[in-house]
Amino acid sequence: MDQASKKIAVGRAAAAEVAEGCRLGIGTGSTVNCFIDALAERGIELACVVSSSTATTDRLRDHGIAVSELNTTGDLDLYIDGADEVDGAGHMIKGGGGALTREKIVAAASRRFICIVDDSKIVRVLGEFPVPVEVIPMARSFVARQMVKLGGLPEYREGFVTDNGNVILDVRHLDIVDPVSLEDRINSIPGVVTVGIFGRQKAQLTLAATDEGVRRIDY
Ligand code: 5RP
Repeated sequence: MDQASKKIAVGRAAAAEVAEGCRLGIGTGSTVNCFIDALAERGIELACVVSSSTATTDRLRDHGIAVSELNTTGDLDLYIDGADEVDGAGHMIKGGGGALTREKIVAAASRRFICIVDDSKIVRVLGEFPVPVEVIPMARSFVARQMVKLGGLPEYREGFVTDNGNVILDVRHLDIVDPVSLEDRINSIPGVVTVGIFGRQKAQLTLAATDEGVRRIDY
């Protein structure tokens, strides 16, 4: 099965996990787009839907699905999102699409996180994929130097501005044996808005599309 078909399969499997009346948070990316399409096809009534990006909001609205503001909904039942890497405990690297800050906020406001990926994203240890770090623009060089001190190789994502008006550094070569402590360490650097290590907001369930079908991985 090719990667596009796997994304469609896992999007459908994720849509089947959403209960009628759910208070739902939705992430960003090509896998999530397949989930949104499958969710729209199911046509179930949801209590509210909160989006993690303008791209996701646009896709939801194109399907006629109303989008609510997190400021008005309160906490959510379920958050569904893709990832760039997932380890054996449900820790993730996210932010390849640059929506990491809103994704982390909506994930934090949700009781349960279901991660949806194709099996190429499952890894033993995080870090092959460069870690995105959203940074206040005037702090870009300062934060880049701190990344070098941590052993990383930061690269400025040129021409990209986040939905929050910030910039992204993609950091290779970080040693991510302890995702939560590295997440905390990077988040404590002045100028960092969010690091794309999701150690604290990890998934409780990953749905991974494989050639043999969609595999469930509970943590
Ligand atoms: C966006 C993300 C995405 O979830 C991640 O990049 C995976 O995207 P895709 O499903 O397109 O592979 O974190 O900020």
